[in-house]
Amino acid sequence: MTATVSEEGARWRPGSWRAAPTAMQPRWPGKYDLATIARDLGEAPDLVTATEIETLADGIARAAAGEALIIHAGECAERFDAVSAPGVAARMGQLRELGAGLTGSRVPAVVIGRIAGQYAKPRSAASRLLVRGSGVTEIASYRGDIVNDVSPDPLSRTPDPRRLLRAYHHAAATMSLLRAHAVGHSGVSTGVFTSHEALLLQYEEPLTRLRDGTWLNTGTHLPWVGWRTAEPSGGHIEYLSGIGNPLAVKVSAGTSPATLADICRRLDPDRRPGRLLLIGRFGADRVAEALPALADAVRGAGHRAAWMCDPMHGNTFTGPHGRKTRHVEALLREVAGFVRVLTSMDIPVSGLHLEVATEAVTECVGGPGGPDLEGLSRRYTTTCDPRLNPRQASFVVAETHRLLWS
Ligand code: PEP
Ligand code: CO
Repeated sequence: MTATVSEEGARWRPGSWRAAPTAMQPRWPGKYDLATIARDLGEAPDLVTATEIETLADGIARAAAGEALIIHAGECAERFDAVSAPGVAARMGQLRELGAGLTGSRVPAVVIGRIAGQYAKPRSAASRLLVRGSGVTEIASYRGDIVNDVSPDPLSRTPDPRRLLRAYHHAAATMSLLRAHAVGHSGVSTGVFTSHEALLLQYEEPLTRLRDGTWLNTGTHLPWVGWRTAEPSGGHIEYLSGIGNPLAVKVSAGTSPATLADICRRLDPDRRPGRLLLIGRFGADRVAEALPALADAVRGAGHRAAWMCDPMHGNTFTGPHGRKTRHVEALLREVAGFVRVLTSMDIPVSGLHLEVATEAVTECVGGPGGPDLEGLSRRYTTTCDPRLNPRQASFVVAETHRLLWS
């Protein structure tokens, strides 16, 4: 099952992405010894097992066949300082509840967290202007705790590669809490799977190891590629093409069917069920126009991919005081459009991808008891994208369940 020879005929290695153009990698200050950091990461224990990875691939294959549903949810950007036993327990409880709400026990739920490694963020702008009193400074964008600190001052925002090791240790602590809380629920392999955006390849590479003859990313069950870095000939697709984990790909309304077919061919040359999880993030107004040709291109090329709906990332807009937000109503319109298109094409809807907080934040607008635009400032704590609060998330999941079975 290992793809060890890349398209160009060159032998795939965990580091062969380095020969390809690779977007969104930080420029570290020169004073650090990156080789030592990579060596330390390379000597750190695996966080997940080959058996767990296989179990997840089976679940994705079942979801692609319409025999299971996936809930894939969590933070936009995990924070190092948020790792705690009660925090992980709350997250697991929430994920399980959302899974149960989505399936209503009609089919099994595959529960995947954006957790234990969701530390790297792609940013559209490299920097932004900070206005303080009469002064204006340009500061680098926050790129996730694995790169820099969110505090808006130049020193905090300077990339620091020692954070790669801190990210591993926080992921490991989170993983061990996930496993502790899974006891009594038949273990993590049937509990919560982990996933994160495999953005920072200097982190992913040393955690990529030969296990039973297959190269696996041992840092997470499900690495995914974001739409900004899903370039068929880029470093991210090259890296993912060689590992045996199931892979998720964000697909936007701007992705052409030919490009998506190219990505799928590179990542899934063997047309293996359970290999690909495509996450559509089109926007409520664009899903009906974009999805049919994309789904057709994937099916026509023989991939048995699972399709899930991320109604969050195509519906972001800037509200008062420059706060990014999303309307729950727009989310529901996108889910409805997604379900309508796939159902008409006789393709199963495989699940839902959400950004959710475990606390009663006010970051998205609407839904039961949700804030209006003016109410956003009450409890707006995200460091990246606006998240649903638990009530809003349960509502979106319940409405999705209704759409799937009405
Ligand atoms: C995300 O899921 O947080 C993200 C950055 O996704 P996308 O690539 O869809 O924008
Ligand atoms: Co996000």
